Amino acid sequence: MPDMDEIKEGKTYYTDIPQKTEGFFLKGSNSLDWGMKNRLARIFNPKSGRTVMLAIDHGYFQGPTTGLERVDINILPLAPYADTLMLTRGILRSVVPPSFTQPIVLRVSGGTSILKELSNEEIAVGIEESIRLNVCAMAVQVFIGGEYEKESIINMTKMVDLGNRYGIPTLAVTAVGKDMARDARYFRLATRICAELGAHYVKSYYIDDGFETVTASCPVPIVMAGGKKIPELDALTMAYNAIQQGAAGVDMGRNIFQAEQPVAMIQAVRAVVHDNETPEKAYELYNTIKNQS
Ligand code: R5P
Repeated sequence: MPDMDEIKEGKTYYTDIPQKTEGFFLKGSNSLDWGMKNRLARIFNPKSGRTVMLAIDHGYFQGPTTGLERVDINILPLAPYADTLMLTRGILRSVVPPSFTQPIVLRVSGGTSILKELSNEEIAVGIEESIRLNVCAMAVQVFIGGEYEKESIINMTKMVDLGNRYGIPTLAVTAVGKDMARDARYFRLATRICAELGAHYVKSYYIDDGFETVTASCPVPIVMAGGKKIPELDALTMAYNAIQQGAAGVDMGRNIFQAEQPVAMIQAVRAVVHDNETPEKAYELYNTIKNQS
């Protein structure tokens, strides 16, 4: 405790300068609490307002898919270029060093495999684990139109309730079943339901026709899912279009880690997301880095 004799009376009050009251930079997030906003500000870069999430959670239902056979060898070299890693607690604990300080988005729904009905998920990770692992958000799959639609929505709302208690955002991941139409109408429906029921941000696939209506009608940020592997220039074009049509970033997996040169690809994606680089320029960057390595 300081010696009372040493305490000097304050004089610098700047009575002529009102204290600033800043709004929060993320869409629909201004009324959240400090801890929630702080976590979101680690996922989304406050300067660009966007994020490059690297999704490597595929193993939770499909095992060691191409590019994720050895996360330690194939993925850790990409991690420094990702704003966020989206992954399971198993890979986090077994492979990612705790000295890695970028934010983690933890997959918390699961319980199914590619051998069975995928929409039949439950919450597979308790909230205490998310707190213990110091994560910045929790990801829950939501199957709008799927066989277990209601259950998956309730999985999400449960995590929203728990996350709100502890200041941890919930990412709703819209999943498209084999038989569902991938069009603007579907994604407007799916993303809006997730936001209405409390998701702090939502992951949606990109569609060529009307994606801007999906981002416009969703009151919280949308990040674009990558989807199946396509040629690098096409993937950069898709990311560019999504960003220009209102996405607040990407959550890409296969189109980064299955690229011919993943370290180059993630840097090219960053250029598109954070610097508004055109797909052609970003592809040039991709080739330059690829040829140097
Ligand atoms: C799938 O359910 C997982 O959440 C993946 O994270 C998601 O599909 C994104 O990965 P990709 O860009 O490979 O589609």
